[in-house]
Amino acid sequence: MFSLSKDMMIGNHMIDNDHQKLVDIINEFELKSQENSLLAMHETLKELLKYSKYHFEREEKLQKESGYPHYQMHKSEHATFIYNIKLMAKSYFVDKTKPIDEKATKDIINFMQHWLVYHIEKFDTLMKEYIN
Ligand SMILES: [Fe+2]
Ligand SMILES: [Fe+2]
Repeated sequence: MFSLSKDMMIGNHMIDNDHQKLVDIINEFELKSQENSLLAMHETLKELLKYSKYHFEREEKLQKESGYPHYQMHKSEHATFIYNIKLMAKSYFVDKTKPIDEKATKDIINFMQHWLVYHIEKFDTLMKEYIN
């Protein structure tokens, strides 16, 4: 199980709760994939796309309103993430170039955990002084 560390807290309820929700999606995926990896993968990628788009939109709105100076760079980091999730979904469900198995589940969990820790610690925490 994966959780938000102290270094990943922004101190803004909306943002911290959204990040917790993204962590929950990954942890639930780990559990659900033990029963049915295909269904779990399908539901998780769909939910991840939906929730991250929702989260990125409100995070970017907050950045704009607070005069956060790295808005464009941050927005493009978010867009790259969405692009990568779409690419993963395409390779598993459309092109079927990769099998949906234990390795696929682990790859997604690793990717998500690393991305979240890296992005939140390196980019989201930069917003702290502008939004609080
Ligand atoms: Fe975020
Ligand atoms: Fe962000």
